[in-house]
Order: sequence, then structure tokens, then C-alpha cells
Amino acid sequence: LFHAVEMAPRDPILGLTEQYVADTNPKKVNLGVGVYYDDNGKLPLLECVQKAEEKMMAAHAARGYLPIDGIAAYDAAVKSLVFGADSEPVKSGRVATVQALGGTGGLRVGADFLRKLNPSAKVLISDPSWENHRALFTQAGFTVETYPYYDAAKKGINFDGMLTALNTAPAGTVIVLHACCHNPTGYDLTAAQWDQVVAAVKARKLVAFLDMAYQGFGQGIAEDGLAVQKFVASGEDFFVSTSFSKSLSLYGERVGALSVLCADKDEAARVLSQLKIVIRTNYSNPPTHGGQIAATILNTPELRALWERELAGMRTRIKEMRTALVEKLKAKGVQRDFSFITQQVGMFSYSGLTKDQMVRLRNEFGVYGIESGRICVAALNTKNIDYVTESIAKVVA
Ligand code: LMR
Repeated sequence: LFHAVEMAPRDPILGLTEQYVADTNPKKVNLGVGVYYDDNGKLPLLECVQKAEEKMMAAHAARGYLPIDGIAAYDAAVKSLVFGADSEPVKSGRVATVQALGGTGGLRVGADFLRKLNPSAKVLISDPSWENHRALFTQAGFTVETYPYYDAAKKGINFDGMLTALNTAPAGTVIVLHACCHNPTGYDLTAAQWDQVVAAVKARKLVAFLDMAYQGFGQGIAEDGLAVQKFVASGEDFFVSTSFSKSLSLYGERVGALSVLCADKDEAARVLSQLKIVIRTNYSNPPTHGGQIAATILNTPELRALWERELAGMRTRIKEMRTALVEKLKAKGVQRDFSFITQQVGMFSYSGLTKDQMVRLRNEFGVYGIESGRICVAALNTKNIDYVTESIAKVVA
């Protein structure tokens, strides 16, 4: 049965972690996967999470099946976080939200639903995009193409190219947009650019699918939700997948969501019924623990306030690491100007290093980044940054 099965290539991101784990170099640093580590290089267990778990443990709750669409209090909290508690879409009940297995799960539930709805639509992702976007929408049955995004020469966004692609895309084309903290480049659209993107999506009758996996890691929770607000204001229907993997440091709990903004409450009920079929036929219903943690935090005012402080702490530390990275490269005699790294936002930096340089960093120094040149700034700390910058200095020399 399996004699002709070919060996699949390693995952470009998670496969690198496998290689990192196997590496015996004591100085190794994993700047591959998008994970936030604290200044001691440890994965944080947030205090708000610990407090929520203590509350949950004290309640000694049994573990029955959840509803197909997840914990009701979780879904409601996600809606409030993403759209605003007092927002018109939430108040009018026209958002369909389901608990999903991380942001990836939210994307996939949305992709499967979209594929049934409009099987001939194409999907456009940014060039470049998160490696898994192309694979995920392709697996869902779509033809995936790209719209221009990164301008290597300018160290920024090829916005004219992006807009031209949107303005020439056929009606119904699904446009996958990074709501904030663009992965992998770290370059986000300005408010004025979002206005133009939203206008193009509306004029061309495109379908916006926002991926918001890093809310709170750019400027702040509300600020990072700007794209969502602009799409709401446009009056268009759209999809948004969200995740607490990073913002609650709950990576392994797979706690995310898909929200679909519909025209009215009745439409939202029908869309929800279809999303439930996708979920039921894939994994039946989501797990309890992570969703319960997130719901407890978001629905308990003091835990919510604590979370916002802890998230701000992570965001600030990443910014400090960006500045330190630029300064230390300069101090180590690197001629090339890396100051663009401080213009980027979120966990990632498109460093501009070539594939050969990334391979050398990995093989000679045990410094792991994605071959595209993406490095996770959130994994730098005051203890490893000298080694990382020395290593970069050697490969760019
Ligand atoms: C990343 O881009 O590194 C993260 O989103 C983790 C993942 O699942 O790829």
C-alpha cells in the first residue's frame, strides 16, 4: 500500500525546530519559529494564565464534550476582543464565531467553508507570506497565487504593486491579509493604505480573510485591530482568524477562533451552522482547557488587566531587542545599515540576509532562522544577543 509513498519535505518552520532540538551546539539559538521567550530564554507562563488555572482547578470541573463551536463564553469574549464589546456587529449579533485549534485551525475552518461556498475562487496571499498560508489553502482545494507585498530594495512595502493586484483580481477572489505584525516581513500597512485596500476589496467584490495571530504585539490590542475596524466600517462581510497562542503564551493549547462578519443575525446563524459542519467532520469539537483559560482571563476584569500589562511587557521587550540588535551589529563593525529592523513590528524581522547566509548561521553557529531571512526577534535576549550579532557579523563580512 505504501511502497510508492514519497518522503515529504520538512516543514520550513516547525521542521527547523526539530533540527534545532537535535543540535548539540551548546550555544545554539532558535530564531526560527514565531515564539516569544523571556529575557532568560524561557517560554513564559503568564501570571494571568496561572491565576486563571488556579480558579479553574478550584472549581474541579468535569470534562464533557464542548459544543461544536466551542465554549459560549469564549466565543463571546473573542467577539468583544476582535470587534469591540459595544460594537454594532456584536450588538446586532451578525458575527459568527467558532473556537478553533489555534489561528491555523481558524484559517482552515474558514478555508473549508469558503471552498464549499465558492469552489472556483482563487486565493491571493502576500508575497512573501507565512509559509503555511499557501500550503493550507492549497490543501483546502484552492489555487493559491500572490499579490506583491515586500519591496526588498526599499525595505518596505510595494504598495502600488499590491493595490494593482487587488484592482485587477476577479470578483470573489479571496485575499488573505495580515491584520498586524506581518509574518514574515514585519512591515505593516499604514492606516491610509488600509483605507485603500478596503476600498479596493469593496469595489472589486473580493473576499477579505484577515489573519490576526499577533494582536497586541505591534502597537497595542486596540491599535492592532485597526484593519478589522476599517473592514467593519466598509460594510463588507469578511473573515478573521485569531489566536491566543502568542498573546497568552498558550502555544500548545491550540486556542484560536474564526469569526465571520455577516450581513445580519439571520445570515450569521446560517453561516455558523455551516462552520459547525466543517468542525464536526474534522475533529468534532474543540478541547476544553485552553479555551477555558482564555475565557476566564478575558471575562475577569482584574485578570484581563493583568494580561494587558503582561502583553505590553512582551511587546516592549521585543522593541528593545530590535534596537539592541541594530546597535550591536553596528558596534561589531558591520558596515551594512540594519536600522530598518527598528521600523518593523511584531515578532519577526525580514533581516535581508540571504539563504546562504542563513544556512551558514545555522550550520556554523547554531543560529537558526528561516531560509527566507526571517528571524524571530522575540527569541533574542540580553544573554544570546552578543553571540547572535557576532555570528551575523561573520556571515555578512
Ligand atoms: C511562525 O510563523 O513561526 C508561527 O506562526 C508558528 C507556526 O505555526 O508556523
